Amino acid sequence: MASVTSLTASVHQRLADALSAALPEAGAADPLLRRSDRADYQANGILALAKKAKANPRELATKVVDALPADDGMIKDVEVSGPGFLNVTVTDKAITENLAARAADGERLGVPYAEQAGTTVVDWAQPNVAKEMHVGHLRNSVIGNSVVKILEFTGEKVISRHHIGDWGTQFGMLVQYLIEHPDALGHQAADGTEQAGEEAMSGLNRVYKASKVLFDSDEEFKTRARRRVVDLQAGDPETLAIWQRFVDESKVYFYSVFNKLDVEIEDADIVGESGYNDMLAETCRLLEESGVAVRSNGALCVFFDDVKGPDGNPSPLIVQKSDGGFGYAATDLSAIRDRVFNLKADTLLYVVDARQSLHFKMVFETARRAGWLTEDVKAVQLGFGTVLGKDGKPFKTREGETVRLIDLLDEAIERASAIVREKARDLSEEEIAERGAQVGIGAVKYADLSTSAVRDYKFDLDQMVSMNGDTSVYLQYAYARIQSILRKADDTSPKAHPELELAAAERALGLHLDQFAETVAEVAQEYAPHKLAAYLYQLASLYTTFYDQCPVIKPKPPQDVAENRLFLCDITARTLHQGMALLGIRTPERL
Ligand code: ARG
Repeated sequence: MASVTSLTASVHQRLADALSAALPEAGAADPLLRRSDRADYQANGILALAKKAKANPRELATKVVDALPADDGMIKDVEVSGPGFLNVTVTDKAITENLAARAADGERLGVPYAEQAGTTVVDWAQPNVAKEMHVGHLRNSVIGNSVVKILEFTGEKVISRHHIGDWGTQFGMLVQYLIEHPDALGHQAADGTEQAGEEAMSGLNRVYKASKVLFDSDEEFKTRARRRVVDLQAGDPETLAIWQRFVDESKVYFYSVFNKLDVEIEDADIVGESGYNDMLAETCRLLEESGVAVRSNGALCVFFDDVKGPDGNPSPLIVQKSDGGFGYAATDLSAIRDRVFNLKADTLLYVVDARQSLHFKMVFETARRAGWLTEDVKAVQLGFGTVLGKDGKPFKTREGETVRLIDLLDEAIERASAIVREKARDLSEEEIAERGAQVGIGAVKYADLSTSAVRDYKFDLDQMVSMNGDTSVYLQYAYARIQSILRKADDTSPKAHPELELAAAERALGLHLDQFAETVAEVAQEYAPHKLAAYLYQLASLYTTFYDQCPVIKPKPPQDVAENRLFLCDITARTLHQGMALLGIRTPERL
């Protein structure tokens, strides 16, 4: 955990530092301080320390208590409990003072930058050219987007790579068809609007279907298509120019979907499979020369002791096929070389479906054997589970087809707009459309991000747009409600009063707010946005309890209490806003 003892260091951090200093082996020991129900915090670290030193844990704990500074203004009460835990209660003053310092820290809210920032290349949002985006592409976009924002917030240098599927034998068929039917794609779409995206995709779909029919029924076309693959791989200019049209049209479509999803993609970061063409031959040569890969029946293969096929025979990673063609593995291995040696990454993160884990396991291991991944470079697949229908089976339309992502998003927006319309009757149509999109897209993103990524989840719109329970709508309403309170209290401004005693609900809220920095650090460390979602949900719940129990405006409490409560409202809202932004979710001011 980052230990930055600054003014804005959390109470949690300052307490952990004070305990470390009081421990006999100062510095080396982690007091393992956690929030607890019994007191504000419990420190469990003394047990392990006592075991190591062969000391009596309760005696050691008592020594630590004696060594703590008598009156530091932070610790109100500390007692030894159980086998040697410490239960610590902090002063109200420390809580409020600390929140005040954090509130003065603008958008960062006192969250420190990581002590050692590195360079992470994140591979995310990787749809395939000339293909419709489906619900699987929701996850690599939504999770990737959030992880990028979280890492950047901690000060990490992040480089995005969208490894789109823009290469392969199917392009022989597509290009050949377009050469023979030059108007088949329709007119060239121009901009990133929704309509342009739809038109681009329907043109691509048309060409895909028609060329497939021809490919399957016409032997001569099939031969021409196969020859076209060779031309494409040889870099024939005419072939490449037509292939480029497929890529460009697809991008028009991708951008319209990303726009709707409220996910920002930079064109320069789209480096698809084709982007590594020039490296493939060399990647294979290096692997073969070093003996990492060997020829087997003409194919260039890497073998692993623990990877076997269903028949029990070793199932290798094929880097080059026997016909000389390069596949997915060669591209990913080349991408690793590029990311490590050119982009100077020290972490490679892949936000990719968990069903590709064997591929990544083999690719990473191969890169390690080749010396491209060293101890200084971490490679991680953030593998995600499958999106299921309400019936618990992989999500399909009633006709059994994969669900188009755009249809899903439209439905979510429609549902959310209906709710917004019903709740806020004074909004204009334009405002309803804008908020409907923010609420609907937020609902879809939150449902995806609020369970641990590796788990499958059910796509259930009823649940996602519900106002009660662990949904983004609930959080967005909490935020909007606080904004409305702040507007109503125009004669009183938020102001921290550390001298005031806090009510139980105020303390609980304050201590949870104090955990924001620790939560962000943990979430970034573990690539676990779901922990941020859980933190925010709990924040909104604690706020609700606070608001029920502690009047802010009516009946009006004494002026200083009113100011302090408004201050708690304000920093809660700002924490919700920042936390949701890290998930890629908007928090409208009014709902
Ligand atoms: N385009 C691939 C798919 O849709 C995902 C690519 C993942 N990234 C990678 N470096 N292999 O399944």
